[in-house]
Amino acid sequence: MNQSQLDLSDDQTFADGFPHDFFTWLREHHPVYWHEPTAVTPDGEGFWVVSRYKDVDSIIMDAKTFSSDKAGDRTGGGTAIKDEASAGKVLNQTDDPLHRRLRELVNKGFTVKTIGALEDELRARTKRLLDSIKAGEEFNFAQRISREIPTQAICIVLGVPEHDRIRLCDWIDSGVEAHSDSVIAAEYLRKLRRYAQALIEEKRARPGNDIFSKIVHAEFEVDGSTLSDFELRSFFALLFPAGAETTTRAISGGMLAFLEHPQQWMRLRAEPELLKSAVEEIVRWTTPSVYKRRTATRDVKIRDKMIHRGDKVTFWEMSANRDDRIFDRPFEFDVARWPNKHIGFGAGVHFCLGAALARLELTVVFEELLLSDLTFELAGPVEWMPNNRLVGIKALPVRVASVAQQTPA
Ligand code: HEM
Repeated sequence: MNQSQLDLSDDQTFADGFPHDFFTWLREHHPVYWHEPTAVTPDGEGFWVVSRYKDVDSIIMDAKTFSSDKAGDRTGGGTAIKDEASAGKVLNQTDDPLHRRLRELVNKGFTVKTIGALEDELRARTKRLLDSIKAGEEFNFAQRISREIPTQAICIVLGVPEHDRIRLCDWIDSGVEAHSDSVIAAEYLRKLRRYAQALIEEKRARPGNDIFSKIVHAEFEVDGSTLSDFELRSFFALLFPAGAETTTRAISGGMLAFLEHPQQWMRLRAEPELLKSAVEEIVRWTTPSVYKRRTATRDVKIRDKMIHRGDKVTFWEMSANRDDRIFDRPFEFDVARWPNKHIGFGAGVHFCLGAALARLELTVVFEELLLSDLTFELAGPVEWMPNNRLVGIKALPVRVASVAQQTPA
């Protein structure tokens, strides 16, 4: 394979899904690979591409050497190939000690107890959604089923009133579909910020039972101060892409995996106790957050390559989760895979804040699908989002073959 064949900074490279063949070749021949700047490389800079599990893990675990922030004297930084203006200001794009400070407070909202308390409502919503499906219907599963529960879950976490949710989701959809630099995206961000500010003021004055109210009122142990409006607004805006977009893609990708591997669905039906391992396998298989970027804070060697201070280093969780040095038969979707050391939720200090919520949502949705006796079959070609950050399914056309048979295919 020719190294210059694929431009990983170009969303179009991902228009047919994740380029697994290219990464299998990289893992084998160029585990630490220098990606030259290309016509579409943002900022005109090249970047490192790290693809093996062990190397990816060692980068994530060393947040001092590999910064999520601006890494000293750079003007931009962050966790995407392209420098982000939000670097240094948002939870996932900060380093300690600021990251620790922000994380300490938001952790207070995301406890096992507060997440567990959402189960009944998410289950009731999933049941209603599945009950509305009729035999013979054809629809886009990604649009009608996958996005509903993750979006509702984030709205519940944030305490967004029911009557505002559709409006809010429309803004988010337009923002996601628009090019990130476009006027439409900027307008959507402005609306979202305005909405977030009003919600923060409401929660300050009249706290509800929601997790966001807990975070708004949470106090730092050292001085009793709370998060600023800016910090809260940034957190609000982060949760939709970080929480809803990722889980939506995991549900669609999981469904596609079952449609393509119907024997795995039958096995899960026969052995429902495998649901826990099935959920982990869905996250490994789909790895909705496919890569992250860090910036080197010092010269450091990875394998035989010298990474210089200030270099952009990308690591590809999707590739790591298919590494046959760690996973037995990595290209087989196996609901019974255990242990499953996937890094779909990241690792280290930035480990996914919403992992427990995502696991709950996936468990509820697939459990209710198993119990529903709905039988799906593919009704047309799958369409992927042309996006290198959040690879996922845009259209998953399905037909409801019956509501009484036992398998989805
Ligand atoms: C299947 C679904 C999900 C996947 C695959 C996923 C994946 C990830 C990954 C890989 C990271 C690490 C980022 C990094 O290292 O730079 C992360 C962080 C994060 N996730 Fe998730 N996530 C999911 C669901 C959620 C949900 C439901 C929420 C919200 C409640 C959420 C909120 C966050 C936040 C706030 C961070 C930043 C944490 C920090 O920097 O300290 N995620 N997620």
